[in-house]
Amino acid sequence: MKQGKLITIEAGDGSGKATQTKLLCDRLQAEGRRVRRIAFPVYESDSSALVRMYLAGDFGAHADDVSAYAASTFFAVDRYASYRTAWKADYEAGAVILADRYTTSNMVHQAVKIQDAKERDSFLDWLWDFEFAKLGLPVPDRVIFLDMAPDVADRLIEARAKKEHMAKDIHEKDRDYLRRCHAAYCMLAGKYGWQRIACSEGGAPRARAAIHADVYAAVQAVLDSHAAGGRVQQKKRTKEGTL
Ligand SMILES: Nc1ncnc2c1ncn2[C@@H]1O[C@H](COP(=O)(O)OP(=O)(O)OP(=O)(O)O)[C@@H](O)[C@H]1O
Ligand SMILES: [Mg+2]
Repeated sequence: MKQGKLITIEAGDGSGKATQTKLLCDRLQAEGRRVRRIAFPVYESDSSALVRMYLAGDFGAHADDVSAYAASTFFAVDRYASYRTAWKADYEAGAVILADRYTTSNMVHQAVKIQDAKERDSFLDWLWDFEFAKLGLPVPDRVIFLDMAPDVADRLIEARAKKEHMAKDIHEKDRDYLRRCHAAYCMLAGKYGWQRIACSEGGAPRARAAIHADVYAAVQAVLDSHAAGGRVQQKKRTKEGTL
């Protein structure tokens, strides 16, 4: 079956995912490519009901109050519903799907709850199998990690919260948790071969256009490659080898 490409834009909270996903989408569309932009969680859908309860603190005021496995299922079913009802047809028809967050966000935000390295790896293997094998969600062709220093992202979140009167969720309120997430992003980017793009320097964000240029360059190779469906970038070690 002919398939499109799935590109995931990943980063910690407030690091510019929505900003960069939109810039990339606009550029690829202007080039005449068939592109679809999606974002997770799908807050406006019923499928995210449990995610919203979790982020609002209904199961506990701190992220660590909810097990990595329980929280993962909330986010996974939201992705499944979105895939089946909103973008599967486009993806299978050859469109480029640009995702602002994906399973990769879950890997980071939930894996940080598990201290023991062996248990954490076993969680990551379970999650991979659950979402990509059991639920049948597509594996991203490329994951772009926007590496914004946590202090800089904090300031961007504060500024946006003031401007847009947005309430912070249980993750955004917890600076220590966000720092642990940033460390996990760096670790998992190495483990899975995500492409890191530096988004801040000297305690300030780089210009949006400069980051965009790097993001655009990073996806070019994937979009222009036909060999192996461009799927070689995401490495996943299993007992059988690389997936
Ligand atoms: N390079 C940049 N320089 C300055 N401000 C930026 C930059 N990129 C994004 N911003 C601003 O920072 C805020 C966060 O950006 P954005 O909403 O794109 O991040 P996000 O990663 O999608 O956040 P969240 O994780 O909360 O969904 C926004 O107000 C945005 O306009
Ligand atoms: Mg966002």
